Amino acid sequence: MTRSPVLTTTHGTLTLENPFILASAPPTASVEGIRRGFRAGWGGAVVKTIHADSMEVRDVSPRFCARKGPGGELLGFENIELLSKKSVSYWETGIVRLKDEYPDHILIASIMGDTDPASWQDLARRVQDAGCDAIELNVSCPHGMPEAGVGAAIGQNPPLVERLTRDVVSVAKVPVYVKMTPNITDIVLPAKAAAAGGAAGISAINSVQGIFGVDIESFEPQPSVGGRGTRGGYSGPAIKPIGLERVSAIAKAVPLPIMGIGGISSWQDAAEYLLLGASAVQVCTAVMWNGYGIVKEMNAGLLRYLEQKGLASPDDLRGAALPNLVSHQALDRNDRVRPGLDRPEACDGCGRCVIACRDGGYDAIRLREKRPVFDDAACDGCGLCILVCPKGALAAARYWV
Ligand SMILES: Cc1cc2nc3c(=O)[nH]c(=O)nc-3n(C[C@H](O)[C@H](O)[C@H](O)COP(=O)(O)O)c2cc1C
Repeated sequence: MTRSPVLTTTHGTLTLENPFILASAPPTASVEGIRRGFRAGWGGAVVKTIHADSMEVRDVSPRFCARKGPGGELLGFENIELLSKKSVSYWETGIVRLKDEYPDHILIASIMGDTDPASWQDLARRVQDAGCDAIELNVSCPHGMPEAGVGAAIGQNPPLVERLTRDVVSVAKVPVYVKMTPNITDIVLPAKAAAAGGAAGISAINSVQGIFGVDIESFEPQPSVGGRGTRGGYSGPAIKPIGLERVSAIAKAVPLPIMGIGGISSWQDAAEYLLLGASAVQVCTAVMWNGYGIVKEMNAGLLRYLEQKGLASPDDLRGAALPNLVSHQALDRNDRVRPGLDRPEACDGCGRCVIACRDGGYDAIRLREKRPVFDDAACDGCGLCILVCPKGALAAARYWV
């Protein structure tokens, strides 16, 4: 008889009771929040970035925007929030308390010093002396901090990443992870720099730099703070493809454990990150939108999935999809799909497929008696018609040429 799977996950030298970690963000902005997260079932938490007391950090209001689907579901989330509002000593006491109450949960201290590496070293010493299990260097905050020469201003500069990592590692007694910004042409370069500096792991990604929108009446970029806006960080479901791509690129090039981050709101999202090389995942926006409790179904769903697949733990998923991720050149041009009306009863003859195909390049569909008819000679197998069908009436059949 095969043994039942477990959620116990290894991330480098750390053992997690499950791979789900609260990312450094509002859900980890206080000791009480982290406590509630641990009680709900999160395997670990990264404290909202602790900064040197000398750095002035004052948040603006409002600082969020959200893009929602027709049912109110979250598609993407923009923030211009800064770092922890608590002092270093608050977190020193808090880390002691949390590790005392939850010794088996992994507690990671995210830190950000100023432009002097000594301030990062000082923070690292203080949080590790308090008992955190690991340190995460926030060299990836996309807004506000780069203007002061830190955050993504460091993360976008691989030599700086290497130097800062080395400086912190030289005083660290716990693993040091470096959190990457996706706002760079090649994320592998700072990840390799972190490895060269002695990092124990990579966290990827921080939010994607963006401008949420502009109020076309008032000309105010959103979110508008007293009439003016600034670049922010985009997060939530919309950025998952970006996170998956960055994590897979790092996994292929850098031999360090990776925490996958970006747009994770379900166990399926997490499994995708693990399959592309992450060993654990962090979640922020989905918790802000739906609460700490989402981890219950994440744990239960992942366990069911492992059982179905006959796998022993999330460790068995790590990187399992990477061999299938190849160059474009290596894709088989003779393995193709052809669309067809799979569920005629669902089709109401709306003609969306006809318009999309005609104006999307191929003009290979006609409506006959309110049903799509496909011209196989003109069809290029792109699959657009299947995607635009609002009723899910079309499906692809695979064939070989
Ligand atoms: C409101 C907000 C505040 C955040 N604050 C921090 C922070 O202090 N430190 C940090 O490293 N990342 C911070 N992040 C980034 C998240 O940790 C995470 O990397 C990003 O949101 C992508 O994950 P998600 O799609 O699950 O939200 C913040 C994100 C949001 C939305």
